[in-house]
Amino acid sequence: MTSALFSPIKLADLELANRIVVSPMCQYSADDGVASGWHITHLGMLANSGAALVVVEATGTERRGRITHGCLGLYSDDCEAALARVVAHCRRYGTAKLGIQLTHAGRKASARRPWEGGQPLAPGEDAWQTIAPSAIAFGPDWPVPREMTAADMERVRDGFVDAAKRAIRAGIEAIELHAAHGYLLHSFLSPISNKRSDGYGGSLTARMRYPLEIARAVRAVMPRGMPLGAGSTSSAFPRAASAPTRAPPWSPIPTSSSPKRSNARPASPRARSG
Ligand SMILES: Cc1cc2nc3c(=O)[nH]c(=O)nc-3n(C[C@H](O)[C@H](O)[C@H](O)COP(=O)(O)O)c2cc1C
Repeated sequence: MTSALFSPIKLADLELANRIVVSPMCQYSADDGVASGWHITHLGMLANSGAALVVVEATGTERRGRITHGCLGLYSDDCEAALARVVAHCRRYGTAKLGIQLTHAGRKASARRPWEGGQPLAPGEDAWQTIAPSAIAFGPDWPVPREMTAADMERVRDGFVDAAKRAIRAGIEAIELHAAHGYLLHSFLSPISNKRSDGYGGSLTARMRYPLEIARAVRAVMPRGMPLGAGSTSSAFPRAASAPTRAPPWSPIPTSSSPKRSNARPASPRARSG
């Protein structure tokens, strides 16, 4: 019997032995963005699992783009060298191809690790000023981010490009842009978090403009046959605290008569994971 799952497939020029892909999974186990022995263990095991493609966890394109102090980054030579060591290890002992998810955590940055509660860092915990399309906090207990200036947008775009170059030098074979889960690129896409009036907010076309600029800039430094993808959140809704009547027409929100929906509110572990 032939099986689609176990048959080869090509993503652009990347040949995959089957259709099993391991999602990026934040490990919160890096040291100032630098991969640790844990990454060798975790990714080495997955590279040797039989999956055709393993996507390295959400990786911050600048220091302040990390979710937590434990998040992986790709903004320094040390980060790049450590990732190259992980890739070399996976190549030596495993069969999977390796992709990476590049991200900027935006207004959800500067947080504690999940096992420390996942809440925003307190001032004494080396917290940092977060940035976002608009100065709107992620939730009632979250700090208000600074609205990004044109200079911020240029720096963050260049950070994605530099991280892509570093990933390619380290041996990564596919890149995914993280445009989901309320992080920076998603917060540009969403009318809930993006209230800009400068051509990067308003219509869907305008809200997509910045993520697309980043995608084009990253694409421009990638080899032609290397796959570039993006993860997106396809529905969004205000937190349960928002009155249902304020929900935009496209966004189903929890009601007392829809218990399944209320399980999927943004405060759930799923929304808080990478
Ligand atoms: C430990 C853990 C870490 C995760 N880290 C990331 C991540 O780095 N990037 C990401 O896009 N999603 C991350 N996720 C979300 C998963 O990729 C996935 O979307 C989620 O588990 C829901 O699975 P489903 O989409 O198959 O329903 C993480 C999930 C878990 C459980």
